[in-house]
Amino acid sequence: MTKLHTRILLVEDHDSDAQLLCQMLSGIDTGLYQILRADTLKDGMDQCRRPDIDVILLDLGLPDSQGMDTVTAFLSCPPPKPVVIMTGINDEQIAARAVQMGVQNFLVKGQTSATVLSWILRDAITRFETEKKFQLLVTQNADAILIVSRDGEVVFANPAAEILFKKRWGDLKGTVFGFPVDTNAISEVDINRADGTLAVAEIRAADIIWKDSDAILLTIRDVTDRKKLEAELAQARKMEALGLLAGGVAHDFNNIMMVILGYAELSRDQAKEGSDLMENLEKIRQAGQRAQQIVEQILTFTRQARGEFKPVRITPVVKEAIQFLKQSLPGHITVVETIESDARIMGDPAQIHQIVMNICTNAVHAMETDGTLSVSLKDIIVEESDCITGEGMSPGTYIELKITDTGTGIPPHIIGEIFQPYFTTKCVGKGSGLGLAVVHGIVEHYKGKIRVESRAGLGSQFTVYLPALPA
Ligand SMILES: Nc1ncnc2c1ncn2[C@@H]1O[C@H](COP(=O)(O)OP(=O)(O)OP(=O)(O)O)[C@@H](O)[C@H]1O
Ligand SMILES: [Mg+2]
Repeated sequence: MTKLHTRILLVEDHDSDAQLLCQMLSGIDTGLYQILRADTLKDGMDQCRRPDIDVILLDLGLPDSQGMDTVTAFLSCPPPKPVVIMTGINDEQIAARAVQMGVQNFLVKGQTSATVLSWILRDAITRFETEKKFQLLVTQNADAILIVSRDGEVVFANPAAEILFKKRWGDLKGTVFGFPVDTNAISEVDINRADGTLAVAEIRAADIIWKDSDAILLTIRDVTDRKKLEAELAQARKMEALGLLAGGVAHDFNNIMMVILGYAELSRDQAKEGSDLMENLEKIRQAGQRAQQIVEQILTFTRQARGEFKPVRITPVVKEAIQFLKQSLPGHITVVETIESDARIMGDPAQIHQIVMNICTNAVHAMETDGTLSVSLKDIIVEESDCITGEGMSPGTYIELKITDTGTGIPPHIIGEIFQPYFTTKCVGKGSGLGLAVVHGIVEHYKGKIRVESRAGLGSQFTVYLPALPA
């Protein structure tokens, strides 16, 4: 609804000047202007807080405040309002400074006609409204907006820029924008933020005039999340293609290995007991078995070997895997078992076996000198309020398998990589880098979670949560 009148706060200590202004305004159109009067800064400040004031007409010389102090006080008094100042005849400089500070307009006392006064007030209100709209567009913009001088110095930044660079305006102001900008293209840059984190940003640039000088307007969009998703998608596609390829190769390779192993075993049985030939054939057989294990991992990983899903009581499977492991364990390693679960899961015993074997084998490899391998199994209930629900685990009963070693630990810079297929720190022939990728694949498939904690030199702990079937 359009307002019928404009409410002016007239801050003027001279009664005669105030009366003159009131007369001028009422002469224009009776009832168009409603005037509230204040004659001191204090009184002006009190009235200025009223939300229904449309414009402030301000004399700078008040009994309790002078010049720019008066301007500052009214400009910073909430809610923001348009301000028109009244100056003396030769006060152009003061007027210019006040406009720079944010005042909408000025008039020269005693030199302004009623029509001009009315025009100045209307213009101040319109200008203020327009500025407010543009300010809103800039402050609420999700993209960072920077204005840099031709020397690259930051002269303006919006709140989104403060968030992107993780710097307050005070710290951004005057700094040099250190990225190449091209006004004809969209550039992409890596930004090292003030808090040490990294962001990827897309920059668009345009030549502008800012405060009478050439400058560049930069619109910067934070594309870190989008880039991460793109990289994940590319990686997923790569893995899918690789999986298909590896699955096919593994399948053929498995058939060839069966032939090699079959003939190696046959020949070994025919060779003379204790002969070099028998020893060589035995080595071929062992290497062949290792190759078969790797093929099995690849097949599980590429989901070529489909697990047969049925309810499985997990305790006997874990116990059997540990028993199997113990047979080949070096003497300096102690195994501590705490198996206390009665629960069942929906799964394939061979895949549970693989989980235990892969994590335990890594643990054993990490303990060159003496060490302890602890395996615990228990049932836990995850409540809505538990912090692990934050890791994407829905509330319910889970089986918690914890495998702890006192080995070398995993250096922090590789801990994010260990579940990646083919990631290994072991030398060629010792590790294929598939063990944990297989574990991860199985656990995800079972809608479980895996967590790893490790401290260099002190050991590692892998915790696997698998959803239990109702008792
Ligand atoms: N318990 C652990 N202690 C120290 N490092 C570990 C541990 N478990 C895994 N790692 C690290 O994670 C890497 C990847 O493990 P993963 O089981 O996937 O592959 P691998 O053991 O190298 O080879 P593979 O299991 O295929 O024979 C290992 O090379 C090792 O650097
Ligand atoms: Mg391994």
